Amino acid sequence: MTDIDHPLELSASEMRALVAGALDRIVAHIESLPRQTVSDTRAGFELAPRLAEPLPEEGSEISGLLDLLFDRAVPPSFNTASPGYLAYIPGGGLFQSAVADLIADATNRYTSVYAAAPALAQLEANVVAWFCQIAGYPPEARGTLTSGGSLANWTALVTARRERLPENFLSGVIYASDQSHYSVAKGALLAGFPEGNVREIPTDDRFRMRIDALEAAIGEDRERGLTPFLIAAAAGTTNTGAVDPLSELADLAARHGLWLHVDAAYGGFFLLTEEGRRALRGIERADSIVLDPHKGLFLPYGTGAVLVRDGEALRRAHSLTADYMPGMQNDPDRVDFSQYSPELSRPFRGLRVWLPFKMHGAGAFRRELEEKLALARMAAERLRGMEGIEILAEPQLSLLAFRLAPRGVPEEELNGLNQRFLDLVNARQRVYLTPTRLRGKFAPRICVLSFRTHRERMEMALEDIEAARREVLG
Ligand SMILES: Cc1ncc(COP(=O)(O)O)c(C=O)c1O
Repeated sequence: MTDIDHPLELSASEMRALVAGALDRIVAHIESLPRQTVSDTRAGFELAPRLAEPLPEEGSEISGLLDLLFDRAVPPSFNTASPGYLAYIPGGGLFQSAVADLIADATNRYTSVYAAAPALAQLEANVVAWFCQIAGYPPEARGTLTSGGSLANWTALVTARRERLPENFLSGVIYASDQSHYSVAKGALLAGFPEGNVREIPTDDRFRMRIDALEAAIGEDRERGLTPFLIAAAAGTTNTGAVDPLSELADLAARHGLWLHVDAAYGGFFLLTEEGRRALRGIERADSIVLDPHKGLFLPYGTGAVLVRDGEALRRAHSLTADYMPGMQNDPDRVDFSQYSPELSRPFRGLRVWLPFKMHGAGAFRRELEEKLALARMAAERLRGMEGIEILAEPQLSLLAFRLAPRGVPEEELNGLNQRFLDLVNARQRVYLTPTRLRGKFAPRICVLSFRTHRERMEMALEDIEAARREVLG
């Protein structure tokens, strides 16, 4: 056998040079975020087809690769890290978590099995326990970190199904409001439920699930011989930030023996604030909760969480092992995450939460979240003062929806007019707002959740909205 080079094994100086080169570009990029465009993807559409290439047999210089990334590929994207990103559900992407990822990936420990990395598994278990504490859950609650809210919703649905329904579960019915995130219905499908088994419950004038309509739907399904089994409530909808009446839903779930799941992917971390705790009162009575750290804790994309009040239920739904695996722990304080999750090998996600929490403390997150709540209230107040603007959904958390509805313009023309209005706001490239449809009405939204969004940027948003309003109204 001939000796070969091993370029994949970097020397100490090569590692340092690689990280230093990347870090220079990263820091320059982050420092320029406030001046970058917020949603201009045109050059990205031009570049993308030219990037398709066959498997590269030979290597390339890193400097050219970094140039491609930072000069050409990264800029023409939705600027999800920008302070002006008020679209969809922002988060920003904490640099501290990126550093945690570098540590986790470079050390490459196996945290799914306690015996393989006991101390690191404990750090991730701490993170899950902190989330349970934030949710007001009892000590026996357990959870797992997922890639995001969608898989967390799916994991909760599978857990509930395995706890509450027989192996033939096809008569089980799931109830969610007409404002619920589509990952609930998708999760139900992927959990094996027939498409027709998800009921869309109408909402009230604040877009919250109507208890009377829910109770009626449950009664009708029972009469038809179906098995009502799970209510998927929302603690902050994606459309308007609406929080379903969680305490009343918990009462109703108890009365009917149903599993109460709360999708708090957007709203859950507002529980760190007093205002959020008031808005989400009752969430601690849910059987399962989804939180999305890549939203409310500002993490980079790739971290969701599912918490289950009775931690053993989560474990029962996921505990399988095999002869080739190391022994699993029979001690609830020694968590084998593979026994609580659909995944076996997976990234050490806990570190990207643990590091920023330990560096800054929960107070730093609380203050950021309080600021976002205040900014949304400020935006609503100022919009209310602009002639012709109608608020369609007042902020219940940090999200609001509005539109331009000038007197005298017929309803059928308003959707087109608002599309033009929104395009004008976004064309200035200082903020990016995205729309939704609320009962047929085209509605621009403002969602404040990036840790980089402060008062100054909200002032810019309001200036750009005012300028667009004037232009549209002539
Ligand atoms: C309320 C809600 N639930 C679930 C999800 C899905 O989360 P993810 O995108 O992390 O899969 C979202 C995403 O925006 C959401 O807003």
